[in-house]
Amino acid sequence: MVPSWTDFAGRVAVVTGGGSGIGLELIRLLLEAGARVATLDVDPTGAPPGAFTQSVDISDPAAVAAAFTAVHDDLGKVDTLFANAGIGSTADVLACTPEEWDRVFAVNARGVFLSIKAVLPGMLERGSGVIVNTASVAGMIGLRDRAAYCASKGAVIALTRQVAVQYAGQGIRCSCICPGTVDSPWVGRLMDEAPDPAKRREELIARQPVGRLGTPLEVAQAALYLASDAGAFITGSGLVIDGGITAA
Ligand SMILES: NC(=O)c1ccc[n+]([C@@H]2O[C@H](COP(=O)([O-])OP(=O)(O)OC[C@H]3O[C@@H](n4cnc5c(N)ncnc54)[C@H](O)[C@@H]3O)[C@@H](O)[C@H]2O)c1
Repeated sequence: MVPSWTDFAGRVAVVTGGGSGIGLELIRLLLEAGARVATLDVDPTGAPPGAFTQSVDISDPAAVAAAFTAVHDDLGKVDTLFANAGIGSTADVLACTPEEWDRVFAVNARGVFLSIKAVLPGMLERGSGVIVNTASVAGMIGLRDRAAYCASKGAVIALTRQVAVQYAGQGIRCSCICPGTVDSPWVGRLMDEAPDPAKRREELIARQPVGRLGTPLEVAQAALYLASDAGAFITGSGLVIDGGITAA
């Protein structure tokens, strides 16, 4: 359900990774709030009808630039970017190969950088724009067996702050969301891969003081708030939506 303070009528929004999970819920909310929405995703087939879709690997500079040009040609200049696409990695430093490290950074950190790079010129020209990156509590605290993932999300938080400070005087806001464990298809896959999926689910739930996982909708609503006019005084922030993990 769209909160009453949201109105994105006439705005153009891009959600990366909108084919599944948090990004998919974001697209639903944005469409309901009146935005014209595009998604860039390696597999956009799951994106809701009504969204303009581009099949692209967010870590590929040429492909990302071409996809944003196509969005611009089809929908107009981007008012709001949700740099949300990301991948996981379940390895500590010893188990993580340099190749895995590079791949995680290419998608999670370079993908955010490339997306911001593509929308900034239009935002600067108009003197307005909002960027909301999807980081994670993994960028704030250490999680076991998540070396590259934690480091890549820390990079997203740091880039968020830098972009916020750099362009605050030019009408551009940049913040990030830091979700805890969210019951998205990704986390479903993680559980399925565990030797005992039910036990793994219980372990993940036990990590969260509220005693349950978050939902993609709860995270999407928080991202929408940051991007909305109600969030006009917020920039450089990391909004934590984690059921209390980081408070414990
Ligand atoms: N689910 C969680 O518990 C959780 C917690 C904290 C942060 N996050 C972050 O939220 C974001 C979304 O995760 P989700 O849980 O919705 O996962 P998800 O797997 O359900 O959705 C991720 C989407 O990103 C797309 N994607 C993956 N690699 C891509 C690439 N190289 N180029 C373009 N698109 C790509 C996938 O196709 C998919 O549609 C990620 O950045 C993730 O790190 C998730």
